[in-house]
Amino acid sequence: MPFRGKKHFTSTLMDWYEPEDRPMPWKGEKNPYLVWLSEIILQQTRVEQGLSYYNKFKKKYPAIADLALVDEDELMKDWEGLGYYSRARNLHATARFIHEQLDGEFPDKYADILSLKGVGEYTAAAIASFAYGLPYAVLDGNVYRVLSRYFAIGIPTDSTEGKKMIKALADELLEKKQPGVYNQAIMDFGATICKPRVALCESCPLASKCKAFSLENVYGFPIKEKKIKRKKRYFNYLVVMNRDEVFIRKRKKNDIWRNLYEFPVIETVRQVTWEDLKKEKAFFENFPHPFYGILSHSASYVQELTHRTIIAQFHQLSVNDDFDTTGKDWLKVKKERINSFAFPKIIDLYLSKEL
Ligand code: ADE
Repeated sequence: MPFRGKKHFTSTLMDWYEPEDRPMPWKGEKNPYLVWLSEIILQQTRVEQGLSYYNKFKKKYPAIADLALVDEDELMKDWEGLGYYSRARNLHATARFIHEQLDGEFPDKYADILSLKGVGEYTAAAIASFAYGLPYAVLDGNVYRVLSRYFAIGIPTDSTEGKKMIKALADELLEKKQPGVYNQAIMDFGATICKPRVALCESCPLASKCKAFSLENVYGFPIKEKKIKRKKRYFNYLVVMNRDEVFIRKRKKNDIWRNLYEFPVIETVRQVTWEDLKKEKAFFENFPHPFYGILSHSASYVQELTHRTIIAQFHQLSVNDDFDTTGKDWLKVKKERINSFAFPKIIDLYLSKEL
């Protein structure tokens, strides 16, 4: 790679790194199970948010067998609030796989680690380097940002060529004698100094040789060719009450939030008023007037997912004791028990405010 300053980058980063500056319970951890657990929790999650979940999981599931043997609903409840629930399902599947097929022994080769469900290249490199000292460089949004700034990489980092270039560069920069320390250092550096919106260039040890800094264009990197455009989905939830009980159901389809609970829902292609919702086939088939009374209509709630924006409205209805739910997958639960089920964040928010 024809870049200057590679040796300077690695040695300065290693000198800068001080594990105690940013203590975290998984730092220096060598137990592959705990490294894996922390990295799965930290995928798509900020450290501050992941911390309490990591501590809780470590305490409740100290060994892989504990995780393998737990009931899925209970695991989902423990995961509630972290989002991206496929992580929890994969965590479970992988724990069971290791427990049942590998005699409980966590794999110790990069390729075997990478083949685990829910483990991508980033997580495999983190586990391989932290737990086993293997020379694999982590590559995530933070590393892309740090490298594309320091070397002022003009090729879009989301293009095939850009990805290849950064991968080769990251492998070259890796401190092969201490890959785990180096990987943790670059993660911490991206999180505390070379931050996306507020980079602390005044206190950056790499600023003197940082190309983006000398071009006075730190925020111009990384260059991206595609901007994500999120598709909108409109969920109209029916919060059906019967005295002090309410109906919920489990999402089973292969869609977002699989295996979480929700209220009966009617999805529409646009935002609809209550009057329009009543004209939807799914509505009048389920709620033959006059078997319901209207209690309230909520404001719109919004939740941003990676590729979707969910816009939800909650309509609280009351029904009589003889309201017929035969053929429906609805579950009747007491209002005060509702918190023992795992819901998506948008529903939790509604519950905390309006139910
Ligand atoms: N994000 C993902 N893995 C991390 C780690 N080990 N330390 C800090 N942030 C992280």
